[in-house]
Formats: sequence, structure tokens, C-alpha cells
Amino acid sequence: MSYFIETNDLVKQFSTKTAVNNVNIHVNKGDIYGLIGRNGAGKTTLLKLLLGLLEPTSGDIDLFATEKLAARKRIGSLIEEPGLYKNVTAYENMKRFSILYGADVNDINTILEKVSLLNEDRPVREFSLGMKQRLGLAIALINKPEVIILDEPINGLDPAGIRDFRNIIQKLNKEGVTFIISSHLLDELAKIVTSYGILSDGRLLEEFTSTELRTRCTDYGKIITNDNALALALIKQNFPDVKAKQSGKHVEISEGLESLGDINKLLVKNNLTVTELTKCTQSVEEYFLGRLGK
Ligand SMILES: Nc1ncnc2c1ncn2[C@@H]1O[C@H](COP(=O)(O)OP(=O)(O)O)[C@@H](O)[C@H]1O
Ligand SMILES: [Mg+2]
Repeated sequence: MSYFIETNDLVKQFSTKTAVNNVNIHVNKGDIYGLIGRNGAGKTTLLKLLLGLLEPTSGDIDLFATEKLAARKRIGSLIEEPGLYKNVTAYENMKRFSILYGADVNDINTILEKVSLLNEDRPVREFSLGMKQRLGLAIALINKPEVIILDEPINGLDPAGIRDFRNIIQKLNKEGVTFIISSHLLDELAKIVTSYGILSDGRLLEEFTSTELRTRCTDYGKIITNDNALALALIKQNFPDVKAKQSGKHVEISEGLESLGDINKLLVKNNLTVTELTKCTQSVEEYFLGRLGK
């Protein structure tokens, strides 16, 4: 199987720190690939390696199975704060960058429309963070890239800003742009990501698709009574097929959820006060926190 972008045992060592440690990522054409990890996990370093802003210590990167210099012309990026001209408009910023990149200034309005900044005539210094990020994305779009690499683009945005940014990414993705996006904010990204790479302390713990993720975020039952120890004992005694355990202030049921109703009857019959009995779905956030060992 040949991937759009992949790395082979990629390593980046900074003196004593191995920031990226034998990483093999696999990005398919059309993916929105979410690179998830805590601060210091190595996300920025990995993205800079992909972009050629850092040289790997060892291992290699395969971009479209093409020679790297040509391949990198097909990639746009937004890493750290974009160097914007603060005293002029979005259009004027786009004009300066287009000329710098040798791109057609006639495309500027089309691009600004994609990031909802068309007809925005305030100077950039009056922009919200979300607007600056969208202008950064517009600049990344100037050379009509097939892949866009974004480093924590929603970091610091308010919920409306995150939603806007997410919608723009999704729309561009439908138009054929592949994305690699890093984040430590999990649930916010989960709504659009199609494939995940989990990075922890420089290592890629695992990769999976969003469909696989849904099967991993399993359902469980949560029961709270006035005597959880007795409740657990009763459940174990009467429902040998149910898997139950004490978990903090509640009893957790991981298998045999179809018996929840009968369990309720049993507990009530034994004079227990059931204050909560719910079927929960583990959130994506909980899954990741579990994987990252919180
Ligand atoms: N230029 C550098 N010199 C030394 N250490 C670095 C350098 N850049 C990053 N690191 C270290 O590498 C690790 C990964 O950093 P980084 O890639 O920025 O992580 P993330 O983007 O996931 O927060 C961190 O421990 C960081 O301190
Ligand atoms: Mg970073």
C-alpha cells in the first residue's frame, strides 16, 4: 500500500532530547489526519520535519512518492503564528504574500471567500485570533496546495472560532485538500478528523481511523446507590454474566448492559436506594486520556 505521506523510522534528536523517536505515520490522500499529543510530545518537531524546516537525525520521509523539493511545493502550512502585516487589510496581506510566492493576485478574492474573510476591510491589528488564523490559512492556500499542515490551529480560539475553523477545513477537505493537523484539544478536533496518530514523548503510540475509534469508545453502565459495596456483591451473585467493578463513587458495568433494567429491580428489591443508573458512552476525550495515561 502506498500512502500520500509517510515517514519511516523518523528520528529527531536535540542534544540529549529525542523529540521524535522512530515515528512511522501514514497519511492517505483525502485524510484529515489528527496528530494528537500533550505539550512536548513532539508534534511541532514532526510537522517541521515533514515541511523540511528541520533535518531528520535519521529515518526518512516519503511525500507523494516524489522528489522532496517538488513535493514540498504541493504542501501549504501554518506553523506557529503567521507573520502577518498588522497595519493593512487581509487583501493587502494576501497581495504581498502572493507576489512573494509568485502566485496570481487574481485568485486572492476566491481564497479569501473560502476562509470567510472576503470584504473584511479592517486592518489585521483589529482582527480576532480566529480571524488571524483564518488569514494564516488563506496564506497557506495561495499556492493551491494538495496538503495543508496546521500546527495547533484552534489553540486559544473561542468555541465559535473553533467551529468556524472546523467548517472551513471540512469544506476545503471536500474540495480535495488533505490535512495534517496537530492538537492537544481532543474532542474539538474529533468532529472532523478521519485518521488519528497518537504521539506521546516522541513516540507514535498508535494510528487508527475515526471509524475504528468509535468502536473503541465503548458503552458502559454506571450505578450509584446508598451502598455500592452491597450493590456490587448483589450484582455479582445474581448476574454471573455481568462484568461489574467498583470505580470511584460508582459501580461500573462493562459487560452485560442489557441486564441494567433487571439489575435495577434487584437493587430496589434489596432495599437499596438507586440514585443513578445510566448507560454511558465513553467520550473520545476519555479514550485519549486513557491512552495517554492520565
Ligand atoms: N530546538 C530545540 N532544541 C532542543 N529541544 C527542543 C527543540 N525543539 C523542541 N525541543 C524539545 O523537544 C520536545 C518536543 O517538542 P515539540 O515538538 O515542540 O512538542 P509539541 O509541539 O508536541 O508541544 C520537547 O521536549 C521540547 O522541549
Ligand atoms: Mg507544538
